Formats: sequence, C-alpha cells, structure tokens
Amino acid sequence: MCAFERSEKGMEFKMYNNWEELEESIENCNKCKLCKTRLNIVFGTGKKDADIMLVGEGPGGDEDKQGIPFVGKAGQLMNKAFEGLGIEREKVYIANIVKCRPPSNRVPEDDEAEACLNYLRNQVILVKPKIIVLLGSTALKNICGKEYGITVCRGKWIEKKGILYMPTWHPAALLRDENKKIEFWKDLKEVVRKYEEIKV
Ligand code: URA
Repeated sequence: MCAFERSEKGMEFKMYNNWEELEESIENCNKCKLCKTRLNIVFGTGKKDADIMLVGEGPGGDEDKQGIPFVGKAGQLMNKAFEGLGIEREKVYIANIVKCRPPSNRVPEDDEAEACLNYLRNQVILVKPKIIVLLGSTALKNICGKEYGITVCRGKWIEKKGILYMPTWHPAALLRDENKKIEFWKDLKEVVRKYEEIKV
C-alpha cells in the first residue's frame, strides 16, 4: 500500500482490481464541484507499470481541453528537462492530485483533493512505481502530509512504505522564476541517479 497520509486519516478507501475497473469508475465522476466546470477528466498517461511516476496538482486549460496531463507550457518545459536527462515521457506514468481543472487554475480545495485521492491511490497501487516525483506543494502536502513544505523538502528523498518520493518545484513555477529551473534540473538528475542505483 502506498503512503497517502490523507487517505490513511479516516478516509474511505475503495480499491479497484485492474485498470479497466478503475477507469470505468471515474467516467462521469461527480464526487466534487469541479465536475461542473470541466471539459474533460484528465485521468493520467504513460507507462502503466512505470518505475517512475510523476504527480502534479491538477489540469490547466490545455489539459482540460485535451484530456491529457502536462501538455501546456509547463508540461512542455518539463518534457524538455526529462528529454535532456534521457527519460522519455512514454516511459513514466503521469497523473495529478485532482483529475478535473480547478476554475482559473486555482489550487484544488481540500474537499476536491480528498474526493479525488482515491483514484490516485489506486493508480499508484496499479503502477507500482519505485520513485514518485512530487511536482509542487499540492502534490507534496496531499501525499505526504500538510506539515511538509516544498521549500524545505524539495530535493530531499522521503521514503514511505517502500516508495521513494522526490519533492521538487512544480514546472509552472519554473516559468515564473528562472532560478528554480536549476534546482528542478538538479532534483531530476538525482532521480535518475537514484533510479540507476536501485533498478534491478
Ligand atoms: N499542472 C499540473 O499540475 N498538472 C497538469 O496536468 C498541468 C499543469
């Protein structure tokens, strides 16, 4: 089982046996108010048994239109960084804390994240990644706990229940602050180094 502090604190957890069941369960989801404004559910993409998984915050406008995570400007920047390190996008699995776009790209509210986390938890159980890269504060806090802050934790490994978590900046933050690009790159390089070390 993966370490999701929030889900472990009294939230009901429903487990799905396979991808078909899980994907079916999210069709027409109306567990939170984001369903009213979304164009598409952005479920996740990539290799379904990837060793490395990336978790972002929630879909933006481009993702909402296309139904695919990280296809906008921030995603393109992230892809470039991964390509530079020799990691193809198709070889990782990419998902978000919430699967529907928050209006005006605001941070997902607690009730929205809580309603959606069961899907992500199932995705992690099915993918069985060795490493999860937490892209930004929303991913870090919802997965590891509210007490974790991205400024302090970024670039440092967190190990929980057999999964290694690497918190780093959200790619959108790199668009606003050039200095963060250097740290983001450094964190991804550490992910690659660690992966080479632990892969069998
Ligand atoms: N930002 C995210 O957190 N996720 C996406 O899919 C796109 C932008």
